[in-house]
Amino acid sequence: MDIFRIEGPIRLCGTVTVNGSKNASLPIMAASILAGGKSTLKGVPCLSDISICSQLLGRLGCKLTRAPNGDLCIDSTVIDNPVGEYEIVRRMRAGICILGPLLARCGRAEVSMPGGCAIGDRPVDIHLRGLRELGAQIHLKNGYIVAEAPKGLKGRDIFLGGPFGSTVLGTANVLMAASLAKGQTVIESAACEPEIADLAKFLNKMGAKISGIGSPRLVINGVKQLQPAQYEVIPDRIEAGTFMAAAAITKGQLKLNNCRLADMMAVVDKLRGIGITVESDGDGCVVAHNGTIRTADITTLPYPGFPTDLQAQFMALLALGNGNSVVIEKIFPDRFMHVAELNRMAANLRKEGPVVIIAGVEKLIAAEVMASDLRASAALVLAGLAAEGVTTVNRVYHIDRGYERIEERLNPVGAKISRVSV
Ligand code: EPU
Repeated sequence: MDIFRIEGPIRLCGTVTVNGSKNASLPIMAASILAGGKSTLKGVPCLSDISICSQLLGRLGCKLTRAPNGDLCIDSTVIDNPVGEYEIVRRMRAGICILGPLLARCGRAEVSMPGGCAIGDRPVDIHLRGLRELGAQIHLKNGYIVAEAPKGLKGRDIFLGGPFGSTVLGTANVLMAASLAKGQTVIESAACEPEIADLAKFLNKMGAKISGIGSPRLVINGVKQLQPAQYEVIPDRIEAGTFMAAAAITKGQLKLNNCRLADMMAVVDKLRGIGITVESDGDGCVVAHNGTIRTADITTLPYPGFPTDLQAQFMALLALGNGNSVVIEKIFPDRFMHVAELNRMAANLRKEGPVVIIAGVEKLIAAEVMASDLRASAALVLAGLAAEGVTTVNRVYHIDRGYERIEERLNPVGAKISRVSV
């Protein structure tokens, strides 16, 4: 198991290239099942979640290869085992997004019910409701979701909202299944996240007929067959936002290549409010800071609101704010495992239900801390860059799930992070 030793405080300065989006890649990889043949995906990052998804598709019968130029080729000619095994899905909840495509392609799917998770309960009831509306018969057997549609799926008008608004992977599942359903499907309260728009564009490239992309009302005219396609995934807006917060917390200056500010309006708006300069530049932007970190109130919301996946990183930043800030988590009300760890680094955070009150402190002090989930660990790395002393972050495998070799990308621009195997 690896740990990070992070020497701080440092100032980041230089250029970093943002990778392709993990959360766009995962459903797009699953969508490749919908057609028999070879799809080629550009920009899929080398992350442990992507390897787990590759294993999952491999068990179904797909053949996956990485070309020397990094392209991921998925040959889904043969799908002879439409089963998402517990051993794999328990390690990566996004495994659930093979359910819709398998059902649409094979008329049957068995996918392990995802278990608990550090950021909350994460039920899949809305996924199942949507697929049932398309005509699937679904029951639970030995911890597995068994879905059947021997006579195919049928398009319907479906309301897909839930208690926390739209669902990202729920929308992905229903969208993929509806692409091969008979007739028209309308998904109301669809997720508008750029990753879902990217999935819809990939599906259209495969021959699907989806309109309303990027809006909460997706209209899908089912087609009989889809073809494999070549596609480049969008840049990772969460990785970009993490690097922006890293530039800000270290009072540094980073030029980010491959970053779409248009997908990050809520984030950029908060950064500017905090006193950080964000300017667009070429295919990316420059983020710079050299003054006090002002306070902010942040409420996480479905897109285009402020993303829950950047809540922890911004909390680390606001921990050094010049007064009191408030963070309200409206997507995953329990996603606060980083709060106690940041407090070990001399932050002053108080949690009240889904709300955290942040009293800004002048400095953070290095400590040994525990990574608990992907974004919480990113927050601890950011805090470590700014804190005085050597911070040890345990369980780095969490961060490897979503950031490709983060130390090798931040060290050339001034970080002092060493990965140690223990
Ligand atoms: N929800 C339900 N029922 C469902 C589905 C969701 O009640 O059937 C609730 C969830 O419990 C949550 C809310 O709806 O309160 C939104 O969850 P959503 O389904 O949108 O989350 P997800 O699709 O499982 C994706 C990302 C997460 C990201 C969320 C929210 C991927 C692979 N995962 O998860 O990313 O936090 O959307 O934006 O795309 C991460 O990358 O660190 C990560 C956790």
